[in-house]
Amino acid sequence: MIRLEDVYYTYGKGYAVEGISLEINEGQLVAFVGHNGSGKTTIAKLMAGIIKPVKGSVFIDEMDTKNTKHSNIVKKVGMVFQNPDYQLFESTVLEEVMFALKNMGYEKEKAKEMAIKSLEMFGLSGYAQRPPLSLSGGEKKRLTFAIVYAWDPKYIIFDEPTVGQDRKNLQNLSVMINELIKSGKSVIITSHDMEFLWQFNPLTYVIEKGKVVWSGYMKELFAQTDFSMYNLTEPQLSAISRKLGLKQPALTVEELSEVINGVGSI
Ligand SMILES: Nc1ncnc2c1ncn2[C@@H]1O[C@H](COP(=O)(O)OP(=O)(O)OP(=O)(O)O)[C@@H](O)[C@H]1O
Ligand SMILES: [Mg+2]
Repeated sequence: MIRLEDVYYTYGKGYAVEGISLEINEGQLVAFVGHNGSGKTTIAKLMAGIIKPVKGSVFIDEMDTKNTKHSNIVKKVGMVFQNPDYQLFESTVLEEVMFALKNMGYEKEKAKEMAIKSLEMFGLSGYAQRPPLSLSGGEKKRLTFAIVYAWDPKYIIFDEPTVGQDRKNLQNLSVMINELIKSGKSVIITSHDMEFLWQFNPLTYVIEKGKVVWSGYMKELFAQTDFSMYNLTEPQLSAISRKLGLKQPALTVEELSEVINGVGSI
């Protein structure tokens, strides 16, 4: 479990995170949403132990990040950065994926085998010998997914994973997220992309000015009449379901078409 206890963080002027308490359990999919500058990335970095609270505590399976070595934190938590350039520093794509694995103690040959598999999974096999920073924006982002996937931490944080991804890669990302959840991992996503998050109906925290202003399942968020106060774009399937007067909104087009065709029952 990742647990935040009355966490505060500041970059020097005012609080970027102000008094947040919450728990993330194993096998859970959790989303942090909110507009630019609300504090999502800061919360993600606190959970990954990259920054430490100025007040309050962050626990990762009972380890307080304030007095745990970073090497012990990264065995449990992997974060995919919003800006992949901050995460890529090796000379080839293959070495980039192998880097964390070698640090975790895998022999070079084993690390290479694992890295090749992960690159294949993300359609990056042909890029193995390229310098990471020569990849396109979307490819770099995919490389950061491949790194975290190979590294296989228990808690995985994706900071704005859908930015710059085309349709096929978004589908791959959905498949990967579902697989991770099924295998008992916790997946934490920060995003503006309600349309993408909707299919998962995640446990959602709406963040404003470093505070949690709403929490619950995403279905419930958009079922509220006053959700517009949070300035979030309503997913189309939510809006259509409401207009059709469905008791429960459809999460996927398949679900919706089953209801319309009279074979589903939401
Ligand atoms: N390195 C930094 N130095 C100073 N202020 C920072 C730094 N990083 C973030 N901030 C400030 O902290 C606040 C929260 O930023 P954060 O990046 O956590 O927001 P966010 O919700 O992830 O935004 P976005 O949707 O744009 O990614 C903002 O006011 C931001 O300007
Ligand atoms: Mg951010």
